[in-house]
Amino acid sequence: MKIARFETEHFFARYEFNTPYQLCNSDCETMSIEALLELANVSITDFAQLTLGYTESQGNPELRQNIANTYQSCSPENVVVLATPVEGIYLTARALLEPGDEVIVLSPAYDALINMFEHVVGDENVKKWNFHSNDNGWELRIEELAQLLSPKTKMIVVNFPHNPTGYVPSPQMQQKIIAIAEQNDVWLFSDEMYFGLIHKGTPKIPSMADLSSKSIVLSGLSKTYGLPGLRTGWLIVPNEQLIQEYINWKFYTSICSPGPSEFLATAALKVWNELRERSLTQINTNLQIADQFFDRWPDHFTWRRPLAGSTALVKFHVDSVNQITERVATEAGVLIQSAVMLGSDDHHLRIGFGRATFATALEKFDHWLTDNPLLIEQNNH
Ligand SMILES: Cc1ncc(COP(=O)(O)O)c(C=O)c1O
Repeated sequence: MKIARFETEHFFARYEFNTPYQLCNSDCETMSIEALLELANVSITDFAQLTLGYTESQGNPELRQNIANTYQSCSPENVVVLATPVEGIYLTARALLEPGDEVIVLSPAYDALINMFEHVVGDENVKKWNFHSNDNGWELRIEELAQLLSPKTKMIVVNFPHNPTGYVPSPQMQQKIIAIAEQNDVWLFSDEMYFGLIHKGTPKIPSMADLSSKSIVLSGLSKTYGLPGLRTGWLIVPNEQLIQEYINWKFYTSICSPGPSEFLATAALKVWNELRERSLTQINTNLQIADQFFDRWPDHFTWRRPLAGSTALVKFHVDSVNQITERVATEAGVLIQSAVMLGSDDHHLRIGFGRATFATALEKFDHWLTDNPLLIEQNNH
């Protein structure tokens, strides 16, 4: 059966490795294996001596313990380690849903959080819970979630902190979402890839895994912890029967995770707080640089500062961000991404704040805008 084009990943496959300055990455600044092992106080000789056999399908026990330690009340028995974070979206759609079930998803969203569910239950059975913009940022309306429910609803899919808007619910709003899931006995699939990236002044929220037995949580090392090359992700699954269901599906996708990644992930999770703080410091610096940039270009952009995460959704007052992307990439070597591929529209772009090269990339983009005033003036609306 065919599946929708994964636009974001096609876009990065085309531009990521040949465009020198990038403004749209959702991951945070990474580090070398050597730096990671030094930070975690793990010997590089131990890594070199690792043997390359198959690993345990549910995940290495020490790694599962270290993952469980990042939650308030999660046990290693509830952790299923994944060979890649994105695998967890596929496994969830397969393990929990049947064609004809209804699923509620956020819109806009990371493509897989819409497309994969449409693929499994049918396009017409995926209902969109839309973000709304206001003067200060982005919001979700709880009454709209309640209206989308039907007796056929099996799952609500959320992603907080959210890619791309940078929205995170207040603790009260989080409780309301949980109450709706629990009262209606539907699964709450919570993508927490940006877990803990909460900006100054925004109230922190716990993981859904610590709050509800109706939640299945996806997380991983790619974003908050800056280690996307490890491809390590995990699910927190509330009961044994479901864990076995997941593992059965995992036998068809990856069987088990790569040993070298498990070793390095185990080390990384010893210092998860330090890694997260490192990412937050970079994001905070970059957000201040972005504030100044958007102050300089008030007619060109509507800047809604994110509350959390490593991305923001910014209105660019042009007819088509997609058309400009190709020009900015070839003329300035700067990569911007239209949010149309995330289910938003072609007047918005996604901007990412996690990388150390952000300031340079933004400066190049600033110069390009200065050199191309006509383009902006003609299209301004
Ligand atoms: C919300 C969300 N979930 C899942 C993923 C998948 O993570 P990975 O690319 O590390 O598999 C991404 C990646 O951008 C994401 O933004």
